Amino acid sequence: MSGKIITLTRHIIEEQRRFPEATGEFTDLMNDIAFAAKLISYHTNKAGLLGVLGETGTINVQGEVVKKLDIFANETMVKALDHGGNLCVMASEEEEDIIPIPEEYPYGKYVCMFDPLDGSSNIDANVSVGTIFSIYRRITPDGTPGTLEDCLQPGYKQVCAGYVVYGSSTMMVFTTGNGVHGFTLDPSYGEFVLSHPNIRIPEKAKIYSVNESNFDYWNENIKKYIRYVKATDKETNRPLNSRYIGSLVSDFHRNLLYGGIFLYPASSKAPEGKLRLLYEANPLAMIVEHAGGKASNGHKDILQIVPEKLHQRVPLFIGSKYDVEMVEDFMQGKRG
Ligand code: AHG
Ligand code: MN
Ligand code: MN
Repeated sequence: MSGKIITLTRHIIEEQRRFPEATGEFTDLMNDIAFAAKLISYHTNKAGLLGVLGETGTINVQGEVVKKLDIFANETMVKALDHGGNLCVMASEEEEDIIPIPEEYPYGKYVCMFDPLDGSSNIDANVSVGTIFSIYRRITPDGTPGTLEDCLQPGYKQVCAGYVVYGSSTMMVFTTGNGVHGFTLDPSYGEFVLSHPNIRIPEKAKIYSVNESNFDYWNENIKKYIRYVKATDKETNRPLNSRYIGSLVSDFHRNLLYGGIFLYPASSKAPEGKLRLLYEANPLAMIVEHAGGKASNGHKDILQIVPEKLHQRVPLFIGSKYDVEMVEDFMQGKRG
């Protein structure tokens, strides 16, 4: 074999060797997540065919109801992860309460929380969607069912965070605190292979990503910042370019590679912001920080926020460090 192909499994096993005390539970968990991602990837790719296939009756013959893809993605994640013996509890954007591990399976030492399908409102238009996941070590006693307490940990306690983007190719990007690495799914042999080792986000943004239709509902500080990034000034490379897909994973992924800032501020319509701390903001914040960027709610690092509830929302400013620091200055009235 020419060259060195590093599969996701090989990468994780090699990482695990750095920790002699490791039991392999984490490796198993990542393999289960990768398996779920392959299934979701396969189904999102044929989303446009569901109607066609439905008419032939193939789906109904098998007794399966065509489900909305985000429900399908949620069930896929839960079923792929519930029996491995490495989790004590899960939580999902799609479910109101924590997701217990069924009694027949052993309780593991990790907690996994996820947004099974991010950007799902875009799916009918063939726009990229994603899965976001976040892993913590449990804080309740080993061998017992995990609880809400295990889920409500601040983001800096994450041991791993990642996302899968189902785009022109399917790619998994994650960090365990030792660099951010991207693996592209090779559909011919169904393996994630290392394609983007050690991703670093450019320190300065070329792009800003925000839903500007909310402008009238923002406070004056954020309005000033958006006016600032749009103003022309050669010396500071303004205006920034505007790009907004409306799929957080896709907007984030592009900005991570090219340098950019994604903003979802609080507004009078959504006083807490729209995005969820546990399933969206925290995992992407861990990734961006390990890639050299920053994530803030305008006043505080996202990873320092102590969650109070499962579906807590948070204003989010995330991306290139220089620009997130600048938006913080605007938000705190230090610039204007
Ligand atoms: P989800 O599909 O998981 O509910 O998330 C949608 C989110 C996120 O992907 C995106 O950045 C944001 O909603 C877009 O919101 P607006 O339509 O308000 O711009
Ligand atoms: Mn989402
Ligand atoms: Mn979602």
